[in-house]
Amino acid sequence: AVGAGLGIRRVLAGEPVGPADPAVAAAEARRPSSGRTIDRVLRARPTTVDLGGREVATWTYDGLLPAEPLRASVGDLMRVRLVNDLPQPTTIHWHGLALRNDMDGVPDLTMPAVAPGARFDYAFTVAHPGTYWFHPHVGPQLDTGLYAPLIVDDPAEPGRYDDEAVLVFDDWTDGWGDSPDVILARARRDGMGSMGMGDMGDMNGGGMGSGGMGMPTAADPLGSDTGDVRYPAHLVNGRLPAAPHVITARPGQRLRLRLINAGADTAYRFAVGGHRLSVTHTDGFPVEPVTVDTLIIGMGERYDVVVTTGDGVFPVVAVPEGKPDPAAFALLRTASSARPPADIRPPELTRQRLEYPMLQATPAAAVTARTPDRELAVTLSMADGGRRWLINGKAYGQHDPLPVRSGERVRLVIDNRSMMFHPLHLHGHTFSVAGTSGRGFRKDTINVLPMQRVSVDFDADNPGQWLSHCHNIYHGELGMMTVLSYR
Ligand code: C2O
Ligand code: CU
Repeated sequence: AVGAGLGIRRVLAGEPVGPADPAVAAAEARRPSSGRTIDRVLRARPTTVDLGGREVATWTYDGLLPAEPLRASVGDLMRVRLVNDLPQPTTIHWHGLALRNDMDGVPDLTMPAVAPGARFDYAFTVAHPGTYWFHPHVGPQLDTGLYAPLIVDDPAEPGRYDDEAVLVFDDWTDGWGDSPDVILARARRDGMGSMGMGDMGDMNGGGMGSGGMGMPTAADPLGSDTGDVRYPAHLVNGRLPAAPHVITARPGQRLRLRLINAGADTAYRFAVGGHRLSVTHTDGFPVEPVTVDTLIIGMGERYDVVVTTGDGVFPVVAVPEGKPDPAAFALLRTASSARPPADIRPPELTRQRLEYPMLQATPAAAVTARTPDRELAVTLSMADGGRRWLINGKAYGQHDPLPVRSGERVRLVIDNRSMMFHPLHLHGHTFSVAGTSGRGFRKDTINVLPMQRVSVDFDADNPGQWLSHCHNIYHGELGMMTVLSYR
């Protein structure tokens, strides 16, 4: 049923894309064009990567973890050839981009998955500047290491920073612990609550993880556990803490850090020792800068922050929220002589934390206030002891698409009736989240805390069939996905 509406065109390996649905083509024609083209080949393949003193066998693009960032400017035509050298079908999803629907990379919804040995040519215009990323949309493949940043520059953006670095966080399992397919199979059998938890899982009734009741508090905003898969290690830019990624900068600079959480199942509490964070963008879109010491970044979310660099070597840490796992760790080095810091849990981690109500969009990024034309419930819940995760009481494949009409302002009322947090992601759009002022900040992935309700508004201005799902990859695969369709 989800394939109805626009109809799924069969795209054979290597064949050029046929004419799109007229509504999709018309939306693409309205995007700004720079006249420039970015060409890239991405080869998804099994490989061995060095995490820094530890070699692991896994799947990546081009043998790199993360792959080289894709970089473009607003209006560029992105042409990416995906070559599938994996033993499974795969796709690429361009997370956060409001792009043409037929390039969104959702198998059986926007395109057939690309068979092993086959290839597919993506071609789409990038309409909005910001920090995005890409990953497969087939099963839990994201959790193998198939991901990379996608940065869209805005030539008109005022130069408010001197230098920049991209930091990608990841919870690491494949090639070390169990593979994502094994984790998923176990979750189907035992539920999310008992995976990898040994004796702790059942105590919590399944699905609540290891930490007791999981009630969110000010000190522990996600509840006492964020997930159930335990990861032996966490990475920044593909590196273990023992041989960390190093950001080199000069002291006294405004350094923009683009933060991306590519973890399948882990939210991170982020801080830079000796520095405060000026938060400037949420999921690619500018906000009025807010200065904090730490922030929590859920799976799929991005934040851009600016730090004014001190003189020395500083820990850059991402601590798995609610898990006893070791932290992900990088270094910021501005002085060649200084020694690495001994303290990899800087005090900033427990100081002032960013919360959603502090955020508001800049005037340029704000969506004009308007009464929604339609309100849709998106209720998130668990069933069968964490074996199934549901939207509006149903698992993916059982839903009719959420009814939306082109041109409407749509309000999603996301109601989390479970004891775990769910980073809910909407493809192909950004929504506006009401803050304290009228200017809602823009996001495409919102971390909905246990038992909380959040309303977000978006404009139905990008026709197609769009997935909305929890970016805990295992929750999504266990059913917490639905489709929104209009033309
Ligand atoms: Cu990162 Cu369905 O997306
Ligand atoms: Cu979830």
